[in-house]
Amino acid sequence: MKHIFLTLFATIVLAITTTAQNNAYTVIANPGQDASTTIRLNWHTAENSPQSICCYTTTDDTSWANAKTITATQELCTVFDSIYSKSSTGADIYEDARFMRNTVEIKALTPDTRYMYRIDDNATVRNFKTAPADNNWTAAIISDFHAYAPLPARTRAAMNMLTKLENATTEDFDIILHVGDIIAWGGSYSFWKSLYENSPFKKYVWAGVNGNHDNMSRGYALQTNQFFANTNNNPHNGYDGEMGVCYHFTYGNTLFIMLNNESMTSSSGLNKAQKWVREVIANNPARFIVVMEHYQWFYGTSGKSSQYERWRKLFDECGVDLALAANNHVYARTNALYDGEETDGTRGTVYVQTPSSDNERGQELQKWTDNHNIIQHRWSEGTKTVGALLMQATDNTLTLTLHDRNGTPIDTVTVNAKR
Ligand SMILES: [Fe+2]
Repeated sequence: MKHIFLTLFATIVLAITTTAQNNAYTVIANPGQDASTTIRLNWHTAENSPQSICCYTTTDDTSWANAKTITATQELCTVFDSIYSKSSTGADIYEDARFMRNTVEIKALTPDTRYMYRIDDNATVRNFKTAPADNNWTAAIISDFHAYAPLPARTRAAMNMLTKLENATTEDFDIILHVGDIIAWGGSYSFWKSLYENSPFKKYVWAGVNGNHDNMSRGYALQTNQFFANTNNNPHNGYDGEMGVCYHFTYGNTLFIMLNNESMTSSSGLNKAQKWVREVIANNPARFIVVMEHYQWFYGTSGKSSQYERWRKLFDECGVDLALAANNHVYARTNALYDGEETDGTRGTVYVQTPSSDNERGQELQKWTDNHNIIQHRWSEGTKTVGALLMQATDNTLTLTLHDRNGTPIDTVTVNAKR
């Protein structure tokens, strides 16, 4: 009798384990270092769940006849466990968040091709698209939606904004770029998990930077880049302490360099990052160079300089074409600047910072007191701001257009190829 009970018990345990295998969550596709042939996926499964696999094929292979499978590298992740947070009802909680982190790097993909993928025997089919070999592509650029369980309208505002941008283009985007602060408290695991359930995370490759909010737990009790690192699978080509957080990738003929401003607050931290940026640019020749970080180039409220002063000399020297930032919740942008002055566009860097997109944490414009000669446009709707940008790339230009919540274009800037 005892034996029968043991067998029954083992069967139940096996059944539970098998069910757990089916439940992949916090799934995201990130670019590989060469995004035309390599895509990197991250997903999580229950603690102690068995080996997990990804099955993928091109979207035109509707019967999955040519599908390939790849087994994930798996590790236990405990960085989010027992962190002080809030539930969706606003209750104070400690999150129970231990899980297996699964990652794959899918190589030898065909450029400019849309793929579909499934994880284990999960019915959900998700997509990613590889970059084209040439520079004809479209990106959405969004930031600062501060996903927060008690206030789901924030995420809704940002996701609706992405739909408006989709409607403003003839085709789906090739990639979504985010400029940080997508989570209110990066230590709150449930916020990431529910954010990634939204359709843009199932449909697109995301390439983002770590914002101060993504880097913190409630009340700044903990600050670490490991929240961002464990909810993405970015290329491991950053520098010491920033692997999977700072990274670079080539998209068409454009080199993207992604920075973590939380490690650049001290001058030694800044020097370390700048040394790395110089090396990446020297070793990865590209037609366009784009640098992204979360902290603003200018305080959009007044026009006063911020990170612009710390980076402009390097950008001049290294020929950075476009600098993207966020954080200030006020859109601000320049034309091409070189040596502190506007050029005719044949040399220099265009600086753009995104507005917020959560309809809640925006800032009013104040008196424009500084940098009138170099800032071309500022925009905010006040506290309730929702805006984002579309970037249309060709071999000769990057064209960025700010859209408001209705999809109405507000401001456009063109970055010219210089090499
Ligand atoms: Fe923010």
